[in-house]
Amino acid sequence: MFLDVSGLTIVYVLIEIQSMKRPTIESILKEKRLFQPPAGFSENAHIKSLEQYKQLYEQAKADPQGFWADLAAQELHWFEKWTQVLDWQPPFVKWFVGGKMNISYNCLDRHLTTWRRNKAALIWEGEPGDSRTLTYAQLHREVCQMANVFKQLGVQKGDRVGIYMPMIPEAAIAMLACARIGAPHTVVFGGFSAEALKDRLVDAEAKLVVTADGGWRKDAIVPLKVQVDKALANDGAPSVENVLVVKRTAQEIKMEPGRDHWWHDLQATASPDCPAEPMDSEDMLFILYTSGTTGKPKGVVHTTGGYNLYTHMTLKWAFDIQDTDVYWCTADVGWITGHSYIVYGPLSNGATSLMYEGAPRPSNPGCLWDVVEKYGVNIFYTAPTAIRAFIKMGEHHLLSRNLSSLRLLGTVGEPINPEAWIWYHRIIGGERCPIVDTWWQTETGGFMLTPLPAATPTKPGSATLPFPGIIADVVDLEGNPVADNQGGYLVIRHPWPSMMRTVYGDPDRFRRTYWEHIAPKDGQYLYFAGDGARRDEDGYFWVMGRVDDVINVAGHRLGTMEIESALVSHPAVAEAAVVSKPDPVKGEDVVAFVTLEGSQNASDQLKDELKQHVVQEIGAIARPGEIRFTDALPKTRSGKIMRRLLRSLAGGQEIAGDTSTLEDRSVLDKLRGGA
Ligand code: WTA
Repeated sequence: MFLDVSGLTIVYVLIEIQSMKRPTIESILKEKRLFQPPAGFSENAHIKSLEQYKQLYEQAKADPQGFWADLAAQELHWFEKWTQVLDWQPPFVKWFVGGKMNISYNCLDRHLTTWRRNKAALIWEGEPGDSRTLTYAQLHREVCQMANVFKQLGVQKGDRVGIYMPMIPEAAIAMLACARIGAPHTVVFGGFSAEALKDRLVDAEAKLVVTADGGWRKDAIVPLKVQVDKALANDGAPSVENVLVVKRTAQEIKMEPGRDHWWHDLQATASPDCPAEPMDSEDMLFILYTSGTTGKPKGVVHTTGGYNLYTHMTLKWAFDIQDTDVYWCTADVGWITGHSYIVYGPLSNGATSLMYEGAPRPSNPGCLWDVVEKYGVNIFYTAPTAIRAFIKMGEHHLLSRNLSSLRLLGTVGEPINPEAWIWYHRIIGGERCPIVDTWWQTETGGFMLTPLPAATPTKPGSATLPFPGIIADVVDLEGNPVADNQGGYLVIRHPWPSMMRTVYGDPDRFRRTYWEHIAPKDGQYLYFAGDGARRDEDGYFWVMGRVDDVINVAGHRLGTMEIESALVSHPAVAEAAVVSKPDPVKGEDVVAFVTLEGSQNASDQLKDELKQHVVQEIGAIARPGEIRFTDALPKTRSGKIMRRLLRSLAGGQEIAGDTSTLEDRSVLDKLRGGA
């Protein structure tokens, strides 16, 4: 079984350590501690008690349509009400059919007629000490201007826009401007290579690319515009007509006349008047590419109404967001966590969302805590890999910082080992902050399993219970629920509002990937998450990690096939098999077993070259930690690579289990001998 994840900015810090223990299934199985919601927390909480949670859960289970429809009417603005709450033609779903709304209206305009007009919507802390705060009124103005700029550049409702940006407010402005005019965005993480960017722009047929001259990362400039130029060179992405460039780092860059435009130039003359386009509830809001089990990343499609409702409700109830809170999610906007919980969820709630461009680095390992102190952050959301890195950095960074503003801590991305959970609770949370461990995915749009902080007693390492309206289960391959504490596949039984709608341009892949692994049971289709899990005697879920060929390196989700394809595209490589090995900070690290073309000689130099090649093809997040050359890969008689064996070898474990299907046993002996 593999462990997988999401993607959080700060995880770049990470180097190997021996002292921290990785979660083992045994340690998680033995975990029995229970932490009650802190006294006094429930007084002002949106959901005040376990009884209230149970009642909401039962209500939603008995009448999901009524439950979501009531919330949609209470919590969101609609230009026109829907005519049908749910249209479920498995596996294709529609929510709030016929309803008209605009998520940028819900995130901005509706707050302008309230006292929130002059409240901070975004607080931005930039890497070399820059900072900026945008109130709701200011953010609205800039979004409207950009929406007009996009229109001026020929973007129409339905056209796709690529966003390849550093963590600056303009990234959120561009997303909201797209939403405002009904142009689906596809945000590509700024750490992806030109090649990966090109693939995504081509698949989405983006008409416009929004980027910056560069971004700051750990005291250096990431040359984003150079990557865009590479991606578009030789008509690489022919659909792209214009490139809009934010001046961030101000180094010399090439601007191609007719194609490239400066953001600030066009903004200067753009009208701040741009009414939000009434969108159909089911109009596409964005495509976000994520790794799967085949080579090509898939474009996960999310639509408007259900996504808005679900991200709004989950943030409100699970993070108990209040008007007085400064809320900080450390993810990058290039990942789903950034979409749902830096931009749309917080702004829809009228909250103050903090965006940070920086990352802990040797010259300033305690920089995150400075940000907490500077802005009095109340809610802090990060990933286990980051927490393990903080532990490694030592507690002395914390002693001089005042973290007393914190009242709630969140985690996402991979199973959190109980040791890291306890450290987070004790050292960062001062034993007073509930820890909200949220299990979810790019595909689910929002939190699926999560404690509600004033209601749910927590157990370190468990994402606890399903959010109201989510019917989760652990089943075998036939779809039969397994007994308590037995491992199985994590599935969801009923569609929820922010469920992905399809794989962009490939509905068959959507069906195959998520709906056919587990047989439909009694006419009921089960959403297969790709994770293994167990449920304990209290109904708590313990997610164990991926059961497919997806691995999770420092909070980034990567497909092993993607990395293999990158390796074999190098002329020296004949064959490659990629597996993961446990890593104490990153969770997992990439190990590549490589066979070379006949004339090639194995050398350390070639290893470095291959690592660099993967960086070029995908991005630094996919750089193999280790490359092992071998004469042959262990295969079954039918030619399938036996990854299980490679995984054991990579992790330095004994080969256990059946090896009788191995075609050539000497391959194994050679590999063991340390190829
Ligand atoms: C893993 C990130 C255990 C899981 C939001 C899932 C988790 C994948 C948790 C999705 C958690 C995420 N506990 N595992 N709290 N959160 N995962 O699409 O394997 O980048 O399938 O979305 O991360 O990663 P993705």
